[in-house]
Amino acid sequence: MTFRRACGLSELEEDTPKRVELDGTPVSIVQTEGEVFAIHDICSHANVSLAEGEVDDCHIECWLHGSRFDLRSGKPDALPATRPVPVYPVKIEGDDVLVSLTQES
Ligand code: FES
Repeated sequence: MTFRRACGLSELEEDTPKRVELDGTPVSIVQTEGEVFAIHDICSHANVSLAEGEVDDCHIECWLHGSRFDLRSGKPDALPATRPVPVYPVKIEGDDVLVSLTQES
């Protein structure tokens, strides 16, 4: 599993997603509830960025139609989205947030 630096830990604000691109793949990095998560930054319902949505209770909400995706699994828990969004493994090394584009679930 290859990890790449996505951003600095100190660049993240609690509950404020940060959009990055790794090898051309858009990824939203989210620090919340004492953990850092990486989720594919395209909603599974339509082609919009999840990083523009709100974070609450370990979920990210799509701003367009309100589907909520679990940051741990990528699964939606509210319609209209029915398909999960890929989530990616994260490692923290010092101030570096490292992400592997290998899909976790
Ligand atoms: S585009 Fe995200 S829920 Fe519709």
